[in-house]
Amino acid sequence: VRWTDTERKHITTIWSHVDQEQAGHEALTRLLVVYPWTQRYFKKFGNLGNASAIAGNSHVRNHGKTVMGAVDLAIHNLDHVADTYTKLSILHSDTLHVDPHNFRLLSNCLSIVLAKFFPGEFNASVQASWQKLLDVICSALSKKYH
Ligand code: HEM
Repeated sequence: VRWTDTERKHITTIWSHVDQEQAGHEALTRLLVVYPWTQRYFKKFGNLGNASAIAGNSHVRNHGKTVMGAVDLAIHNLDHVADTYTKLSILHSDTLHVDPHNFRLLSNCLSIVLAKFFPGEFNASVQASWQKLLDVICSALSKKYH
């Protein structure tokens, strides 16, 4: 994957203003509310019975932060995301058996959250750069599926 200077700038500028815990929490909450079948992977998180239980669940909050940590790692390793994600891909495939279609759903939830956080800055060209990043992340996570 090649990145232009503009794409790198779009990604790092937005990211430098993101509260990772809040963004992770909102994106993961959105995923679990809007696509309830994704709850099946998170049984050990306890009560995900309705939108307010999901939003108030501390495991959801912690895990959202963990996921944003992986996004942060990708942003710091833009030129070799697939290598950086090797173990994470094996985990989601062989151990967690997460259907990789769900990666795209979470990515889209994150885009919506960023658009909400930065209504001015997250314009069409910034979104295109972010879409590319999220595509690269989804593809890196899906790489070890067989
Ligand atoms: C665990 C990242 C999407 C289900 C994790 C971990 C990370 C991560 C960093 C922790 C790994 C560890 O403990 O070593 C990501 C990223 C995603 C993504 C970057 C996409 C942008 C998803 C999706 C699902 C999912 C869409 C399910 C719908 C899980 C589960 C765990 C996990 C069940 C284990 C949670 C636990 O045991 O506490 N993920 N993930 N992930 N992920 Fe993902």
